[in-house]
Amino acid sequence: MFPSLSLITFLSLLFLPSAVTATKIGVTYISSPTLPPPEEVIANFLSQKITAVRLPVPDPDIIRAFSYTNISLFLAIPNSLIPSIAANISAASLWLYAHVIPFYPRAHITAISVGTHVLSQGDVTSADLLVPAIRNVYRSLTAIGIRQITVSTTFSFVNIMTTSFPPSSAEFQQPANSFVIKPLLDLLTETNSSFFVSLYPYSVYKLRPEIPIGFALFQQHAYNFREDTVTGVRYRNLFDLMVDAVIAAMTVAGHENIPVVVAETGWPCFDSNHEVEARDVYSKMYLQGLINHVRSGKGTPLRKEGAAEVYIYEVFDTNDTASKGLNSDGAWQNWGFCYPNMSMKFEIDFGNGSSPLTEDGMFITCLLWSVLVWYVILFGNPMATVNRY
Ligand SMILES: *[C@@H]1O[C@H](CO)[C@@H](O)[C@H](O)[C@H]1NC(C)=O
Ligand SMILES: *[C@@H]1O[C@H](CO)[C@@H](O)[C@H](O)[C@H]1NC(C)=O
Ligand SMILES: *[C@@H]1O[C@H](CO)[C@@H](O)[C@H](O)[C@H]1NC(C)=O
Ligand SMILES: *[C@@H]1O[C@H](CO)[C@@H](O)[C@H](O)[C@H]1NC(C)=O
Ligand SMILES: *[C@@H]1O[C@H](CO)[C@@H](O)[C@H](O)[C@H]1NC(C)=O
Ligand SMILES: *[C@@H]1O[C@H](CO)[C@@H](O)[C@H](O)[C@H]1NC(C)=O
Repeated sequence: MFPSLSLITFLSLLFLPSAVTATKIGVTYISSPTLPPPEEVIANFLSQKITAVRLPVPDPDIIRAFSYTNISLFLAIPNSLIPSIAANISAASLWLYAHVIPFYPRAHITAISVGTHVLSQGDVTSADLLVPAIRNVYRSLTAIGIRQITVSTTFSFVNIMTTSFPPSSAEFQQPANSFVIKPLLDLLTETNSSFFVSLYPYSVYKLRPEIPIGFALFQQHAYNFREDTVTGVRYRNLFDLMVDAVIAAMTVAGHENIPVVVAETGWPCFDSNHEVEARDVYSKMYLQGLINHVRSGKGTPLRKEGAAEVYIYEVFDTNDTASKGLNSDGAWQNWGFCYPNMSMKFEIDFGNGSSPLTEDGMFITCLLWSVLVWYVILFGNPMATVNRY
């Protein structure tokens, strides 16, 4: 009997770490002259245990300021450079020589998005050039000898998906699917890169009045779920449902294993049209719910590791309405969770449930599981009790 018990304990040690693979959580930071200098903002990130930052406007001085911090960086190349980078690999090198080469690896750059939400601008020319541009950035990086940086582009969920419900029926919209997404997925597989997508449960909630707000805000109630009638899978929050819609659409397109990075997600604290759900209390519920959920390591129903990375939009208000999928008719929102003086508008704990992230946490989790397995075997099993006592 004992060899088999040890085997079970051993197996639990072996498999549990993969069950708690945690999603990396980051924030989107857009600097401006009216905000504190990057050094102060970064010190604040470190004190809040923020370990990943997305820089949609990656000014070289800001990238430099992240040197030696071990905060991972997600950079974006502006949409306006896509045509020149697609046409000439020298343009890709030029950008890399200004934004990556001088700082890497002291600044821990892990991802580059070539363009952001290109399809939402209805700019078909740039969309056609996306894949060639990404390929040139990738080739230029590998020519320099850098292979650890993921190169991709960021789409907006509402611009690429046909439907979010049921997620198993989701597909990418045509014609984007054939002329840009499919070739991109082929390239991502070839280059071992990730699929970047911005997704806002807030926007889907606003478009679909039948969705209860608690479902969008990670509130746990016994009846707070939606069932995917095709697969029978239960969803307990809208975020997972949207991530799985993307995964289902990638699977239909023949690429089920590409990691998904949620480049933007958040909840507005204010809307100039005074939308009642755009307020601090909901923003806090969404962000803390998101952090607790992705840190729990439960993944999504379709993918046990869930999204590989999730970036909260955003640190400071930037008065931005672009590409959130909102029918904004001139309205603007505030999405920031910090005031310009860096104090938080509301408490959020970025470190919550972070034990699966650290090796210590992982070890302790394994240890506890082993103890549990032993306990069940020794005491939970009536036969074992009868035999022993
Ligand atoms: C840097 O961060 C990674 C995880 O993102 C961690 O594994 C590593 O220990 C950190 N290194 C230092 C020097 O803090
Ligand atoms: C690409 O750009 C470089 C530098 O700007 C230039 O020397 C070269 O002629 C260009 N190549 C093509 C094919 O346009
Ligand atoms: C792909 O990337 C992952 C992590 O980014 C890495 O662990 C793995 O070794 C890479 N695989 C190849 C074939 O490069
Ligand atoms: C945000 O932008 C709108 C128009 O673009 C402007 O009317 C409004 O005053 C701005 N709000 C802030 C807080 O800057
Ligand atoms: C930061 O700014 C907010 C909003 O303007 C204000 O309520 C708060 O008291 C300020 N905090 C500090 C420490 O100055
Ligand atoms: C931290 O996470 C646990 C479990 O996920 C949750 O019960 C607790 O309320 C969270 N703390 C905060 C401050 O949200």
